[in-house]
Amino acid sequence: MPSVAPPRVLNIEDLRQAARRRMPRVVFDYIDGAAERERTLHENCRAFDDLLFRPRSAVATRQVDLSTTVLGTRLDLPFMLAPVGSSRLFWPRGEEHAARAAGAAGTGYILSTLSGCRLEDVKASTKGPAWYQLYLVGGRDVALSAIARAKAAGFGALVVTIDTPVAGLRERDLRNGIKELLARHPVHVLPYLGQLLSRPRWLAGYLRDGGLMRFPNIVLKDGPMGYADVGAALEASMVSWDDFPWIREAWGGPIVVKGVHTEDDARRAVDVGASAIVVSNHGARQLDGVAATIQVLPEVVAAVGTQTEVLLDGGIRTGGDVVKAICLGARAVLVGRAYAYGLGAAGGPGVARAIEILQADVIRTLKLLGCDRVGALDRSFVGPPRTSP
Ligand SMILES: Cc1cc2nc3c(=O)[nH]c(=O)nc-3n(C[C@H](O)[C@H](O)[C@H](O)COP(=O)(O)O)c2cc1C
Repeated sequence: MPSVAPPRVLNIEDLRQAARRRMPRVVFDYIDGAAERERTLHENCRAFDDLLFRPRSAVATRQVDLSTTVLGTRLDLPFMLAPVGSSRLFWPRGEEHAARAAGAAGTGYILSTLSGCRLEDVKASTKGPAWYQLYLVGGRDVALSAIARAKAAGFGALVVTIDTPVAGLRERDLRNGIKELLARHPVHVLPYLGQLLSRPRWLAGYLRDGGLMRFPNIVLKDGPMGYADVGAALEASMVSWDDFPWIREAWGGPIVVKGVHTEDDARRAVDVGASAIVVSNHGARQLDGVAATIQVLPEVVAAVGTQTEVLLDGGIRTGGDVVKAICLGARAVLVGRAYAYGLGAAGGPGVARAIEILQADVIRTLKLLGCDRVGALDRSFVGPPRTSP
């Protein structure tokens, strides 16, 4: 197992490089890449860098409290693990390892519809909160059956992703031959095989894990849906606001709307009964050229912050980023790539290391800000330096 201990791995970028070394290019780029020219991918991170802290010095903060509540559930950390499809490609039984690591750290895990592991197995693997993310792939009946299973398994909230009417154009995936590899026609696969063979440890794990190519929570008439069918299935199954009444009725618990980017959509999400919303551009994997999520957060918080809980994801690579989002009104944040790199680098211990890095960052940042708890963060801790009149 590759070591992710310090001083080898000190930050999320180190985990990213470790993931790059262990995984074939086609899998690493599936995590790392984004839509079209990847402008929003860079913006999501850069916008955090543009936001500056305003610390209060000489404040003795020996202990800091990182806990928060989301949908009435206590989390020991102000960040959760976002839904990341096909995590089982990164590490054998990847979703279960990620969920277990989240639970062990006292935080929540959100399982993607596009999971390679059965939702019941993932729920059983964590002692922390688990939410189920819903795509309508396969149509209403298939979704209803997944909702019933998620309910029976004890998932605490249903996260409906609204920003995926089609799959974004991820150029890196196409150049790496993702389509050809998934279609598995020997002649077309051949030019792309080298990248898999150059990562024998990953390949051995993948084959030992069954060489998975199916989604066990999307059960169609002829069995679980294959990986190769995702793009077409997403296009055939887009969610609209009109779907929320039947989804809400079938689920009967809290609904989280993920993929809100404007105050108008935030209000619509509240109107359809969202208990929480996630300001998200899907990690820049859908529409390239939208603003960074941290830039639109204040608009959304101003519009609906008193009516619903507002979460944010996109571009979080340090605990300082987590703190900045909370200062601007997010109740908590979700991290995607930060832990996916950890999973790809070293499985469960890699995810645990990603969480540990972010947690240590948040503690240190709070102490340096002179703030003793996440619940006391507000806008006064960020902003441009005052210019003299
Ligand atoms: C490899 C990968 C797969 C993803 N799969 C899903 C998914 O199945 N469903 C979903 O709602 N979001 C999915 N997302 C988006 C994440 O939930 C989250 O919005 C995004 O990763 C946040 O940005 P960050 O990666 O910069 O933290 C995926 C993201 C990545 C990187």
